[in-house]
Amino acid sequence: MEKVVVKASKTYEILIGENLLPEAGGRIRQTTGGDAVLVVTDDTVDGLYGKTFTASLRQAGYRVETFVIPHGEASKNAENFLAILNFLAEKKFTRSDVVAALGGGVVGDLAGFAAACFNRGMNFIQLPTTLLAAVDSSVGGKTAIDLPAGKNLAGAFYQPELVICDIKTLDTLREEIFRDGCAEVIKYAVIADRELFAALKQPIRPQLEKIITRCVGIKRDIVAQDEFDTGLRQLLNFGHTVGHAVEACSHFAVSHGGGVAIGMAAESRAAEAMGFCDAVCRDEILLLLRMYGFDLSCPYPAKRLCEKALSDKKRRGDTITLVVPRDIGKAELLPMNVSELPDFFQKGM
Ligand code: NAD
Ligand code: GLY
Repeated sequence: MEKVVVKASKTYEILIGENLLPEAGGRIRQTTGGDAVLVVTDDTVDGLYGKTFTASLRQAGYRVETFVIPHGEASKNAENFLAILNFLAEKKFTRSDVVAALGGGVVGDLAGFAAACFNRGMNFIQLPTTLLAAVDSSVGGKTAIDLPAGKNLAGAFYQPELVICDIKTLDTLREEIFRDGCAEVIKYAVIADRELFAALKQPIRPQLEKIITRCVGIKRDIVAQDEFDTGLRQLLNFGHTVGHAVEACSHFAVSHGGGVAIGMAAESRAAEAMGFCDAVCRDEILLLLRMYGFDLSCPYPAKRLCEKALSDKKRRGDTITLVVPRDIGKAELLPMNVSELPDFFQKGM
């Protein structure tokens, strides 16, 4: 088992290893105490891992309640958020009890926001079961729900008390969902770690424990310096400005990972065209993305994508900050006036 310690407004451990779920209850008890745990999960994950996890919680002496949402992004909504708060109240949970998110990023973001708000904040544990959640959403404290006007528009920074990543659970992921997580792994390699980039040229599954540990280590270092996303943390948005625009244009038919892959390709092409990196760096990024099966052709014209990007929540007034690779393992923030954005997008196509 690997352990990464995050030092932000809370200090907490991320445990990464095989078969951690059956013993998770004991670790949660040691970390947070409390009398009761609300397990928030989705119907797919509940069917696969709900029993194992709740059994381990009961064995550790907890009263266990479960709140199951239908799987998918549509569940990350205000109705479910309120329903969880009402459920916690009805079941007489207190601040010293625990909310545990068992699932992917949808479950983690929704449960985390509810944990942040109930009684002004209760104990929160993340048990990521997708690769994306393991390397990204379970770490760093961003929690959110979607509003009709857009994704993640309401939320809070709220760090968990503990993250337990049982990599055995990733065995049951559908291939395309696993691949979505690979886009985020490639992102970490491009922005921060040439060695990781090289490792990704070999089959990823046998190296998962090491790779997840490295990714969350990179995120830990960034979050320690910029927990509230005012500067350095924006490096984690590499590929996301174009990627979110592609997702939005497709009405979310293109997955998050698929959008981010197209976005990383576009932002790398633009970076090369503007002289931030050389053609070798750009081509290495495109090659690795293709190796993972991503289709990098962008189905929407630059102008339409640009319009979507202008309503992105990453925009601050007239400035939007892009991320450009300098080399493999090195990236920098590129703040630009929104008037320059069409040219950047055009160069990325
Ligand atoms: P998800 O939670 O919808 O999971 C994808 C699918 O995989 C779901 O259908 C789920 O039921 C299924 N699944 C989960 N674990 C499984 C398993 N072990 N075996 C089989 N099936 C399993 O999606 P996701 O890609 O994990 O997360 C996307 C969400 O994360 C988005 O809402 C995004 O906004 C959010 N996100 C948040 C952050 C953050 O920092 N908070 C970062 C990145 C993404
Ligand atoms: N997923 C980007 C961040 O946590 O900042």
